[in-house]
Amino acid sequence: MKLKFFSPATGGACGIFEPARKAGQKRRAMNFTVLTIFPEMVDAFSQHGIVRRAVESGTISCRTVDIRDYTKDRHRTVDDRPYGGGSGMVMKPEPLAAAIRDARNAYPSARTVLLTPQGRGFTQEAARHLADAAEDLILVCGRYEGIDERVCQGLIDDEISVGDYVLSGGEVPAMIVIDAVTRLIPGALGGEDSAEKETFVQGRIEHAHYTRPPVFEGEPVPEVLVSGNHARIEAWRLETSLVRTLLKRPDLLLERALTPEEKKALKAWCRKVETLVAD
Ligand SMILES: C[S@@+](CC[C@H](N)C(=O)[O-])C[C@H]1O[C@@H](n2cnc3c(N)ncnc32)[C@H](O)[C@@H]1O
Repeated sequence: MKLKFFSPATGGACGIFEPARKAGQKRRAMNFTVLTIFPEMVDAFSQHGIVRRAVESGTISCRTVDIRDYTKDRHRTVDDRPYGGGSGMVMKPEPLAAAIRDARNAYPSARTVLLTPQGRGFTQEAARHLADAAEDLILVCGRYEGIDERVCQGLIDDEISVGDYVLSGGEVPAMIVIDAVTRLIPGALGGEDSAEKETFVQGRIEHAHYTRPPVFEGEPVPEVLVSGNHARIEAWRLETSLVRTLLKRPDLLLERALTPEEKKALKAWCRKVETLVAD
């Protein structure tokens, strides 16, 4: 099923997200194709860490396409001056459109996504939707002032922004999308529940982490973490996660209802604070 959650034509958000699989079905590889004039940037990225492991295990594939390979002139020109004048250059439509069409022939059911500061904001929730939908993605990286609007209108299904700032190109945003989505694909992280407890996933930021040595520059790790008592450890993690969220990102708690377990943990913490400040 083709999912559409942003319409460049209307500029409006729309659509419903649905997983492409039923429970128990074996998951096929999710294929990322990155269209760029700097393929070596993305190639280097996909050769490291979790993304590399996911490629090696067949969980994902990450292919780059050099848009210059679709040019027809001696200089392999991908940009031209803007109609109407003004500074900067615009990505020419012909090579880009040919590159997109070729990628679509290779992955006919893929969603074609333009990375652009004008797109919908990329969040953990958006990454989760993409990972669940498991659609192949063709990620189009702009450069210069961006791409010719006719390519946007005719060949782009969706627009994603990685934040309200302007970068020089879509390669870093494409890598952000691949990285965040890949981490959420079952099996990509090794320990299945490590992604489930990460910041944002449960509507709060994660608890603090400690590793050896037990004392670092005079600071010991919290006693509870070396107690071996798993119930206490889980309670401590929930409490620190909530308190850190309250202090660093209160918006995450204010925009949703707390679970009974979270309310209980926060109330217990409030009681400790009241004891501390009591006259
Ligand atoms: C210099 S930017 C062009 C910005 C464009 N003139 C504008 O004002 O919207 C060049 C390319 O970088 C990418 N880019 C820049 N900022 C981005 C962001 N926040 N999210 C996603 N892509 C971005 C896009 O692919 C864009 O076409």
